Parts: sequence; structure tokens; C-alpha cells
Amino acid sequence: MNGLQLIATGGALPERTVTNEELSRMVDTSDEWITTRTGIRTRHYCGETENAATLAIRAAQQALERSGLGPEEISCCICATLSAPDATPSVACQVQRALHLPEGCPALDVNAACSGFIYGTAAANGLLATLGGKYALVIGCEALSRLMDPKDRSTCVLFGDGAGAAVFERTESNAPFAVTLGARGDDAIHAGGPSRTGSSPITMDGKAVFRFAVDALPKSLDRVLQKTGLNLDDLSWVVCHQANSRIIDHCVRHLNADPAKFYKNMDHHGNTSAASIPVALNELAESGQLLPGQTIACIGFGGGLTWGGAIFQYRK
Ligand code: UT7
Repeated sequence: MNGLQLIATGGALPERTVTNEELSRMVDTSDEWITTRTGIRTRHYCGETENAATLAIRAAQQALERSGLGPEEISCCICATLSAPDATPSVACQVQRALHLPEGCPALDVNAACSGFIYGTAAANGLLATLGGKYALVIGCEALSRLMDPKDRSTCVLFGDGAGAAVFERTESNAPFAVTLGARGDDAIHAGGPSRTGSSPITMDGKAVFRFAVDALPKSLDRVLQKTGLNLDDLSWVVCHQANSRIIDHCVRHLNADPAKFYKNMDHHGNTSAASIPVALNELAESGQLLPGQTIACIGFGGGLTWGGAIFQYRK
């Protein structure tokens, strides 16, 4: 079967950490409200010289170094983001230039909000199949602090900044690989952008999105498992979009699953949209918890509305 295997990860986080306590001095909120409703305790915000592209370049550089590949071996570069600093050049093109990826390597941004990394992985597999080549760089990066209204307590406590990157190899092995994607146009989550005219900060109908998420997460997981013929027991890790700890807990209960399999790190990152899944993959790899040969499911859901799931194997 042709499919992708994960061979290396990288990550980049802004130095500045913002605690719930700090936010509670700026808006009418509390550490107690934020932790019990979301599981979030701290998040990172970009400094003046940082943005989604600078984070993407750092994460991608690290993933490339860890893969042991040269830049000339990368055959496509895809960046998932909804907070690109510029409309053009895309973040992916900025990565292409910074890492000296070859000119034959297509580079493009994908905006599927919090499902962006899954969409990007599917697009990378498609590009390698269409154009040839073995290795793809897929990045998720966000500077959501730039899109938020710092006075809106219903959103400013939720989001954070960061980037994660993955190098995938397209192989003909029997390693499991499948992707499922979906979309339903809806502005329950809406954001202008720093480079768009009439920029407007993020707004979200939290309750409606929560209902959507607790439905989309188990359905996407079920669909992508079906496509591989695997079941939950065959997975070592389920890496979900890190929007809210309660959404993952709900899914675990619904599936009667082992909660230890469902990685969570929103406590120290908040919701980093397209970056949340690759940042989590990188943490798992860096901490030695992700082992070669393990099979992972990644599930995204969020703005668009969009959703998706991917299953692949880690092969260092
Ligand atoms: O990344 C894309 C996917 N995103 C998601 O999946 C997010 C899904 N939604 C959620 O995670 C949750 O809906 C939230 C965390 C956003 C909100 O939690 P909730 O339990 O749905 O709270 P709520 O919006 O219903 O608000 C409950 C109360 C309200 O007060 P009243 O009307 O009951 O008096 C809010 O005004 O909490 C109030 N509230 C706050 N209070 C303290 C809202 N934000 C805050 C805050 N601090 N930061």
C-alpha cells in the first residue's frame, strides 16, 4: 500500500508564557474558570519579532535536521495555518527559501483551521503521488495571539501560538495509512487576519462548536480506523486537536477507551489551531513516548467548519 510514514518531527514555541493568573488581571476571568472549563493553564504568545512564519521555519529546520535528509530530498512543503503574517509569500514559500528546499519542491499554505495538519498531510500524499518524490515536509503554525481581541474573555483565554513540523516518507510498505476529511461551511468560528483588510478578531459560538466537536471527533476516528481495518487497540496514540480537555474526555468516555492513549497538552499550550497536532507529535517524540513502529491516529476539528483524521506509523 502506498502511504506516508512519519520519520521526524520538530517544534518551535515563543519564549513568552502567559498564565491564567496573568489573563485574570486583564479580563474578568479566573484560573479556576479557565482550568475547569478547558484544562488550559498557560499558553505562549509571540514576541515582537516572532510570527507564524518564523516559528514554522524553526520547527521545519529542526524536523529536517532530525530526519537526516538534505533539503534537496524534500519534494513538497505544505504549511497549515490561519494566521500567516503575509498573504504572499506564503509561509510554506518562506520555509522553502529559509531551508534552501529545491525549486522543484512545490510550497503552499493550507487553511483548514484546526484540521489544517490533517488536510496538509492528505495534500502532501497527493502531491507526492502526482509529482513523484519521496519526502514531504508538513508544518502547522499559528500566531493566534495576533488575531484575538485581548478584551474578549470568551476567546482570549483559549488560544496560543506555536509551530510543529513533520517529515513524512512515502513508502510502498504495508504500514497503515489512511486519511478522512470533511467540511461544512459555517461561521461558528470567525476570524479576519492581520493581512486582510477590515481585519476582525476571532469570535466563536463556543457552545455550538463544542457540540460539533464532540460529534466530529469520534466519527472521524471511527471513519479513519475503518479505512485501515484497524481498531482502537491497534493504535498506540490518539493525538486530537487540543481545543478543550473536556472534548477529549467526552470522546474517551463515549468510546470506553483508555484515556492514557489520548495525548493531552493543552494545559501548557492552549488551543494552537493547526499547530496543535504537530506540536503534540513533537512532544511525544522528544519525550521518548513515541516509539518506532507505533501507529498513531491524529484527529482535527474546528473552524470552517472542518474535520479530519489521519492514521500513520512512526518509523524513525
Ligand atoms: O479550535 C476549534 C475548536 N474549538 C472548540 O472546540 C471549542 C469548543 N468550545 C469550548 O471549548 C467551550 O464552549 C468554551 C471553553 C469556549 C466555553 O465553555 P462553556 O462551558 O461552553 O462556557 P459558556 O460559553 O457557555 O459560558 C458560560 C459562562 C457564561 O456566563 P453566564 O452567561 O453563564 O453568566 C460566560 O459569560 O461563563 C462565562 N465566561 C467566562 N467566565 C469567566 C465565558 N468566558 C469566560 C471566562 N472567564 N474566560
